[in-house]
Amino acid sequence: MLPTRPGRGLVGREGLPGALLLLLLFLSAGRGDTGGAKKANIVLILTDDQDLVLGGMGPMKKTQVLMGHFGATFANAFAVTPLCCPSRSSILTGLYPHNHLVRNNSLEGNCSNAAWQKFQEPLTYPVYLQKQGYQTFYAGKYLNQYGHPQAGGVQHVPMGWTYWLGLVGNSKYYNYTLSLNGHEEKHGDHYEADYLTDLLTNRSLEFLRKLLRPPFLMVLAPPAAHSPWTAAPHYKSTYSTLKAPRNGSFNVHGKDKHWLIKQAKTPMSNSSIQFLDHVYRARWQTLLSVDDMVQKVLDQLKSLKLLDSTYVFYTSDHGYHTGQFSLPVDKRQLYEFDIRVPLLVRGPGVKGNKTYLEPILNIDLAPTFLDIAGVNASQTNMDGVSFLPLLVNKVQKSAWRSDFLVQYTGEGYTTRDPKCPKLGPGVSQCFPDCVCEDAFNNTYACVRTLSAANMQYCEFADKENFVEVYNLTADPHQLSNIAKSVDPSLLVQMNQKLIKLQACSGAGCRS
Ligand SMILES: *[C@@H]1O[C@H](CO)[C@@H](O)[C@H](O)[C@H]1NC(C)=O
Ligand SMILES: *[C@@H]1O[C@H](CO)[C@@H](O)[C@H](O)[C@H]1NC(C)=O
Ligand SMILES: *[C@@H]1O[C@H](CO)[C@@H](O)[C@H](O)[C@H]1NC(C)=O
Ligand SMILES: *[C@@H]1O[C@H](CO)[C@@H](O)[C@H](O)[C@H]1NC(C)=O
Ligand SMILES: *[C@@H]1O[C@H](CO)[C@@H](O)[C@H](O)[C@H]1NC(C)=O
Ligand SMILES: *[C@@H]1O[C@H](CO)[C@@H](O)[C@H](O)[C@H]1NC(C)=O
Ligand SMILES: *[C@@H]1O[C@H](CO)[C@@H](O)[C@H](O)[C@H]1NC(C)=O
Ligand SMILES: *[C@@H]1O[C@H](CO)[C@@H](O)[C@H](O)[C@H]1NC(C)=O
Ligand SMILES: *[C@@H]1O[C@H](CO)[C@@H](O)[C@H](O)[C@H]1NC(C)=O
Ligand SMILES: *[C@@H]1O[C@H](CO)[C@@H](O)[C@H](O)[C@H]1NC(C)=O
Repeated sequence: MLPTRPGRGLVGREGLPGALLLLLLFLSAGRGDTGGAKKANIVLILTDDQDLVLGGMGPMKKTQVLMGHFGATFANAFAVTPLCCPSRSSILTGLYPHNHLVRNNSLEGNCSNAAWQKFQEPLTYPVYLQKQGYQTFYAGKYLNQYGHPQAGGVQHVPMGWTYWLGLVGNSKYYNYTLSLNGHEEKHGDHYEADYLTDLLTNRSLEFLRKLLRPPFLMVLAPPAAHSPWTAAPHYKSTYSTLKAPRNGSFNVHGKDKHWLIKQAKTPMSNSSIQFLDHVYRARWQTLLSVDDMVQKVLDQLKSLKLLDSTYVFYTSDHGYHTGQFSLPVDKRQLYEFDIRVPLLVRGPGVKGNKTYLEPILNIDLAPTFLDIAGVNASQTNMDGVSFLPLLVNKVQKSAWRSDFLVQYTGEGYTTRDPKCPKLGPGVSQCFPDCVCEDAFNNTYACVRTLSAANMQYCEFADKENFVEVYNLTADPHQLSNIAKSVDPSLLVQMNQKLIKLQACSGAGCRS
C-alpha cells in the first residue's frame, strides 16, 4: 500500500490562497525536463554503519557502476560525528552537533525527543523543500528514538514529510514497527512480506509509479549494514569464505592512544576474531539487498523518464571498524575507519567516472538539497555548504574548505556490567571479551585538515586531557600519535583552529 497522508498532501499548504496554489501546481506540472526554472528531483539512499575504508563498498557492484560510472565519487567524504542519531541529525539539519545539540542515541541526549521536535525538526531540509513545492517521501530508519512513547509515539510525523514510513527505533530487518503517516504498521519475520530493505524498495517503487507530479524528494534509509546483520535468505551463503581485512591497524595495539584504545586486548582472542569475521561477512550480505535497491530505484526512474531530472545521492551515516586497534566491532572512534563514508552522486550536469578529492561533510547534504531546490542555503543557519557548484563544475577547487570539525560525546552506563565485573561504571559496548568500545570520557573534538597538510588533531574531555595528533601523509593508518614529537607551534595552531570551529555557527563554520 502506498503511504498517503490524509489531509496533508497536496492541498491545504498553509498560507497559500487557493488560486495561487492552483497556479503553482500548474506551473510545476510535467516531468522529465531539466530546462528552465524546473526543479530537479532528489533521491537520497542512506545506509547505516557502512564503512568506506575497510571495503564497505565491496558488495555494491551494481551501485558502483550505476552511480560511479554515471556520476561522481567523493573520495574524501566524512561524517562530522561517528554515531547514528547525532550523525543523522546533522544530515537532517546541516548542523554540527554543537549546534543541533543531539548528543547521543538516548532521549536524554536529544535523540528525536521533544526538544528536537520543537527546535530542530522545523529547520530540517524537507521543510524547506516542501515550501518549494516538493512532494517529500521518507521510508526507513529515521532517528534511533523515533516512535518512542515519550517522543510522541508513531503518531508523531516529523515536519516536512508528505508521505511518511518511519521505522520505530533502531535498525532491524524483521519484527519491527513502522509509522505509516502516523499509523502503526507491525511486521513479522516472513521474508516475502517483511524483510525491511526489500519492503522499503517496494514502497519506493510504488511511490514513484503513483507519483502525481515532480518535483519530489525521496529518502530511503535501509537498516543495512547495522546489527543484527540479518541477510536475505538468498544471500546468506554469499561470501562464505570472506574475512575482515588484516592490513592497516588490524589487531594492532594502540599503545600511545587514549585509555579506551589501550584497554583493548592485543592479540584479540580467537573467539573475538571469529565473531568479527562473521560480522564482516554478514554486513556485506545485508548490503547486497541495498545494491538491489539502488538498481531497482534507478531502473524505475529510467522507465518513468525521470533519470535525467533527478539527483541521486548514496551515502552512509558513518563508518565502522572490525578489529582495528584490537577493537572488535563498532564505530564511535575518531579514526578514519569510523568517520569516512561512501558518497556517490549522479544527476543533471554531473559527469560520469569523476572522482572528487575535496572534503565533503554530511552537513553539506542539506545545503546541497536546498540549492537544488532553489533555496540559497547561505541565507539559513546551516553550518554546511552546498557542493552542487562542485558537482556541476562551477567552482574552483581552491575555493573549497580545508579544515573541518569532528566531535563526539561518549556514551556510558552508570551501573556496572554484571558480565564484566572487573570494569567500572562509565563504560559501554563491552562485547565481546569485555573490551569496551565507548565510555562517557570517550568525548572528543578534532580538527581534520586535508588540503595544505593531511593532519588530524584531537582533544579528549577526560581526566588526562589526552591529545592525539596524526600525520596522515606519513601514517595513513594512524599508528603513531605524534602529539609529543610534533613542532609545538603546530599544536598551538591546531588548538586555536579547534576552539574556533567548536564555537562556530552558520556562516562562521563555512569559511
Ligand atoms: C566509466 O568507466 C568505465 C570503466 O572504465 C567505462 O566502462 C565506462 O564506459 C565509463 N562511463 C562513462 C559514462 O564514461
Ligand atoms: C537538548 O536540546 C535542548 C534544546 O535545544 C537544549 O537546551 C539542551 O541543552 C540539549 N541537551 C543536551 C544534553 O545537550
Ligand atoms: C520474530 O518474533 C517472533 C515472535 O516473538 C519470534 O519467534 C521470532 O524468532 C522473531 N524473528 C526474528 C528474526 O527475530
Ligand atoms: C517486494 O516485491 C517483490 C516483487 O513484487 C516481492 O517478491 C517481495 O516479496 C516484496 N518484498 C517485500 C518485503 O515486500
Ligand atoms: C587492505 O587491503 C584491501 C585490499 O586487500 C584494500 O582495499 C584496503 O584499502 C586495505 N586497507 C587498509 C586499511 O590498508
Ligand atoms: C588461536 O588461533 C591461532 C591461529 O589460528 C592458533 O594457532 C591458536 O592455537 C588458537 N588459540 C586457541 C587458544 O585456540
Ligand atoms: C546567497 O546568499 C549569499 C549571502 O546572502 C550571497 O552572498 C550569495 O550571492 C547568494 N547566492 C545566490 C546564488 O544568490
Ligand atoms: C546521553 O546524553 C545524556 C545527556 O548528556 C546523558 O544524560 C545520558 O546518560 C547519555 N546516554 C548515554 C547512554 O550515555
Ligand atoms: C575514563 O572513564 C573510565 C570509566 O569511568 C575510567 O576507568 C578511566 O580512568 C577514565 N579515564 C580517563 C583518562 O579519564
Ligand atoms: C607529514 O609527513 C610528510 C611525509 O612524511 C612530511 O613531508 C611532512 O613534513 C609531515 N608533516 C608534519 C607536520 O610533520
